[in-house]
Amino acid sequence: MKADRNFDEIIDRRNSCSYKWYKEEHGLGDDDIIPVWTADMDFRCAEPIVRAVVERAQHGLFGYALRDQAHKDCLINWQTKRYGTTPKEEWMAYAPPGVLFAVNLVVEILTQKGDNIAVLMPNYDPLYEVVTKSERNLVESELLIGEDGSVTIDFEDLDKKLSQNVKILILSNPHNPSGRVWKREELQSIADLAAKHNVFVISDEIHSDLVAKDKHHITYYSLGEDVAKNSMSCYSANKGFNLGGFQTSTLVIGDQNLKAEFNKKLSIAQTTTDNLFGAIATKAAYTDPECEAWLDDVIEYIDGNKEYLYKYVADNIPQLKVIPSEGTYLAWVDCRGLGCKDGKELEDFFMNKAKVEPCMGYEFGKQGELYVRLNLACPKSTLEKVLNRIKEAIGR
Ligand SMILES: Cc1ncc(COP(=O)(O)O)c(C=O)c1O
Repeated sequence: MKADRNFDEIIDRRNSCSYKWYKEEHGLGDDDIIPVWTADMDFRCAEPIVRAVVERAQHGLFGYALRDQAHKDCLINWQTKRYGTTPKEEWMAYAPPGVLFAVNLVVEILTQKGDNIAVLMPNYDPLYEVVTKSERNLVESELLIGEDGSVTIDFEDLDKKLSQNVKILILSNPHNPSGRVWKREELQSIADLAAKHNVFVISDEIHSDLVAKDKHHITYYSLGEDVAKNSMSCYSANKGFNLGGFQTSTLVIGDQNLKAEFNKKLSIAQTTTDNLFGAIATKAAYTDPECEAWLDDVIEYIDGNKEYLYKYVADNIPQLKVIPSEGTYLAWVDCRGLGCKDGKELEDFFMNKAKVEPCMGYEFGKQGELYVRLNLACPKSTLEKVLNRIKEAIGR
């Protein structure tokens, strides 16, 4: 087996400036806790990416960097190959600091304080906090969770909410935290409602490289030229290839006036140049066939972890219910059966009794109060430990 495909390998990430291990590294947390919260992987990166970064590092000159045409081409080719859709080159924009920076910028450009912005809830906290923290008004449309764990959009509610003078709708697709991969019909219905109510759509597709083998990612911009002109779709090799530390993103903005305004803001903030290693790593990820093979293997491994989780919980922890995850390496777990009175009590159970640190559901909005989000991009043995700890803590 290739060294970069041994996903069972436990790699010590402490003392490597890992955000996930920040507390443990700085003596702020309980050293015995297993962190399964932040959305990055515990797996070694695909070897050609490491090689490309090392080779470039040996050049020894690290002045300001700007992506080349080959970099732009590889982004277009990747989307064509993996998603079956091709963005026009003039629609492409780049935001070196990452997807969230781009989302924040477009919110600043298109809205004013007090304006209404809608988000499907629960959702990844920075995507709704970009609304509240910039003093816009958050309009929540709650997702429906069926008895069987299916997650669906309440279109009647969304129609009503978007009619309330909403300026922007923010989506995550695949959905963080549930891992739902929105179907074409669902996205089309969203686009129809957006057109009906004149709402701009931000579609955060950062997890799009990580969809289960039997699912297909639909890019929002591909629903039509009108849809592309009324939206921004956001991409990055960050999630699929574990490059979060390189902070870089690619946007598809169909409206050329908006793109010009976006680029103007970037230049005011002096953020038009690239993160050098982000550009190098992205190019390797999207062009080297070994990296694509690595991605397919990692998806298979994560799908295996998902199956293990479903079975373990069904056999051993009937108090929990896992939402079937179609994409991402995340699992959204309904913990209402544990009988905790609120999210803080649930947090106490996980942190102090089970000694496991998930993302707490309340971070994703009030709808997630008694849920947790687990990160399954870890060796199976780590997942086994996490689940054994939860089971034993319940038993005590
Ligand atoms: C849905 C979603 N969007 C954006 C981000 C962060 O993106 P970036 O680091 O490019 O700002 C994450 C990271 O977890 C995410 O899950």
